[in-house]
Amino acid sequence: MKKKDIVLDIKKLNIELQTGANGIPVVKKIDLRLYLGKTLGLIGESGCGKSVTSLSILRLLDAKVWNLSGELLLKGKNLMQMSHEDMRRIRGKEMAMITQNPMISFNPLITIGKHFTETLITHTKMRQKEAAKVGIEMLQRMGLQNAHKLMDLYPFQCSGGMLQRVMIAIALSMSPAVLIADEPTTSLDVTIQHQIICQMIDLKRKYDTSILFISHDLGVIARIADEVAVMYRGYIVEKAPVEVLLKNPQHPYTQALILSKPAFQKRRLEAIKGAPPRITEKYQGCPFADRCEYAHNRCLQYDMAPKIIDPLHQVCCIQARGIEVNACIS
Ligand SMILES: Nc1ncnc2c1ncn2[C@@H]1O[C@H](COP(=O)(O)OP(=O)(O)OP(=O)(O)O)[C@@H](O)[C@H]1O
Ligand SMILES: [Mg+2]
Repeated sequence: MKKKDIVLDIKKLNIELQTGANGIPVVKKIDLRLYLGKTLGLIGESGCGKSVTSLSILRLLDAKVWNLSGELLLKGKNLMQMSHEDMRRIRGKEMAMITQNPMISFNPLITIGKHFTETLITHTKMRQKEAAKVGIEMLQRMGLQNAHKLMDLYPFQCSGGMLQRVMIAIALSMSPAVLIADEPTTSLDVTIQHQIICQMIDLKRKYDTSILFISHDLGVIARIADEVAVMYRGYIVEKAPVEVLLKNPQHPYTQALILSKPAFQKRRLEAIKGAPPRITEKYQGCPFADRCEYAHNRCLQYDMAPKIIDPLHQVCCIQARGIEVNACIS
């Protein structure tokens, strides 16, 4: 992958929850890169920090609650240093987001049609009539029947699944350079899920959109992603092209994720032992050691230095084959 194809470069991103005198680290020095027209899948158990990471990229985390450090470079410009006004301009047009909870993303006082037309008129050169036409077309492409009628409804008159698709339709209609999709299909049935993933693949092909696709479902990630980053306890513990990750997972947590997924496993399914950790829980060394069946004493002194298995595959596990490095590569 060439340097000029890097669209979004996340470097040493740290996110801390500010509570009392000491902050609680939630996302820890992560490095991620989105390339032109490629999809990066971000996977991990509930509470590992996926949504917080995605919200931080759009600077949507409340600065009174969260403390951010590191770099968020969109085509070389550091989003961390941008004014609120510049960020508002970037959101929607250059970077769009599909959030995990569609209900909170809509203004209850305006219709679905107005959400569409206001967004398109603000961020593109479209006029009212054209924006409404695009809105109806996009809703139909999302498999929503009676799109004309839907444009006149208020959010509270729609189901969660419908709003999820409306939100995806609005985001895709902007053909943004970067699309951040946080569990976009989790609340939808498999037929609609398929339709939406096809739309995203189409968008990626047509406009060279770079997508960060967040999910806890490896099956969905495998369909859409070119590369996958595995997150555990706020760390990226493994990163590789999707086919490499599925064939040759190196981190015990990635292996456990694959073994727990019916589509990838012909043998008996294995549940991941133990419960997902809480952010306040103390631990020593490797963040996965307390649930890892291969853990030994050295793992408790471990400081998360990544190993490079091959130029595109890195893993944070001292037992993985590879060369140890001091900094993450992307
Ligand atoms: N507003 C908040 N105030 C306090 N803690 C929060 C807040 N939002 C998130 N957290 C905590 O930060 C951690 C990371 O949360 P995040 O929502 O990013 O997880 P996630 O990986 O997206 O999980 P899921 O798969 O359930 O969506 C969790 O422990 C969560 O409890
Ligand atoms: Mg989440």
